[in-house]
Amino acid sequence: MINMEHVTKRFVADGPASVDDLSLVVPEGTTTALIGPSGCGKTTTMRMINRLIDPSEGKIIVNGEDVTKVDPVELRRHIGYVIQQVGLFPHMTIAQNIAAVPKLLGWAETRTKKRTEELLDLVGLDAGEMLKRYPRQLSGGQRQRIGVARALAADPPVLLMDEPFGAIDPIARTRLQDEFRQILQRVRKTVVLVTHDLDEAIRLGDRIAIMKSGKIVQYDTPDAVLSRPADAFVENFVGIDRAIKRLSLFTVSDAMNVASPRSGTSTVALTSNLRDALALMVAANSDVLAVVDESGAVKGEVTRDAIFAV
Ligand SMILES: Nc1ncnc2c1ncn2[C@@H]1O[C@H](COP(=O)(O)OP(=O)(O)O)[C@@H](O)[C@H]1O
Ligand SMILES: [Mg+2]
Repeated sequence: MINMEHVTKRFVADGPASVDDLSLVVPEGTTTALIGPSGCGKTTTMRMINRLIDPSEGKIIVNGEDVTKVDPVELRRHIGYVIQQVGLFPHMTIAQNIAAVPKLLGWAETRTKKRTEELLDLVGLDAGEMLKRYPRQLSGGQRQRIGVARALAADPPVLLMDEPFGAIDPIARTRLQDEFRQILQRVRKTVVLVTHDLDEAIRLGDRIAIMKSGKIVQYDTPDAVLSRPADAFVENFVGIDRAIKRLSLFTVSDAMNVASPRSGTSTVALTSNLRDALALMVAANSDVLAVVDESGAVKGEVTRDAIFAV
C-alpha cells in the first residue's frame, strides 16, 4: 500500500507549491492513474514516492515504511520504475539490462537467467531472439516492453510508471496497455501510473486521481469519474464524450438479454466492450446485435436501449 499524507512540495523555499497538501491512498495490489494537465504535479507526486524528489512537508508510507527513513537507494530496489523513453542502458544487452537490479541484489547467475527468460515471456518477447541484442536494435514498442520487464525483474511490490506508453504509436499503445493489464492480473502489484491520456487511465486504473495545480480534485473509480464528475474542471477534462468512454468499461455480457435474434442479425462477441458494440451497431445500421461466444454460438442479443441503460 502507498499512503501519502498532506504532502507538499516547493522546489524553492517560499515559492509556489508544485504539489499542494496532497493526500492519496493506493490500496495494495491496485492501480491508480494520476492524470491532469501538463505541469499539474503528476511527475513530482510520483517521484516523491521513490524519493527521487524529497517532499517539503507531509509523510509518505510505502508498505508500512516511512520512505524518508529508508536509504533511498535501498528503497528504489523495491520500487520498479518505468519512464517514457525507457532509459535502457544503451551499451548493455537486453539480458544485462533486465538483470541490472538482480545483479545489484547479488542474485546467482542461474536464478537471474531463469528470471530474465520468465520476464521476456511475460512481456511477450522471444528470449532466444532478444537477449543478445542491444536497445537500439529494438522497436519502440519492444523497448517499452523491456522497460517493463526490467522494472519487474526483482519482483518489487510497487511499480511507478510515468507516461510509459506515451512515445508509442496509438495502435501499438492500445495493445501494450491491454497486455500490461493482463500482466497485472498475473503479478499483483501496487501501481501508480502517470498519464495524460484519459483512455489509458480508464483502461488501466482501478482508480483515477484527477489533478489540478498540485491538488487532487477527484479520486474515484473510472466509472464514477465518467458518470459523476466532481466539478466543472473534471467534467471539462473528461470531455463531452464521457458517456461513450464510460461504455468501454463494460462488456456485452453486462447488457445482454437471453433472446433469439432474427437470423442474419450482425454479431458481436460476448467479450467485446460496449463502446465497440455501439460502433458495430452504427456500422450495421441496426439497434440490435446477436451476441456470440468464442465458438460462434449465439448466446442472446444486445440492444441499443440496453447499452444506454448500463
Ligand atoms: N526540478 C524542478 N525545479 C523547479 N520546478 C519544478 C521542478 N520539477 C517540476 N517543477 C515544477 O513543478 C510543477 C509540476 O511539474 P510536474 O510534476 O513535472 O508536472 P506534470 O508531470 O503534471 O506535467 C511545474 O510547474 C514544474 O515547472
Ligand atoms: Mg510529468
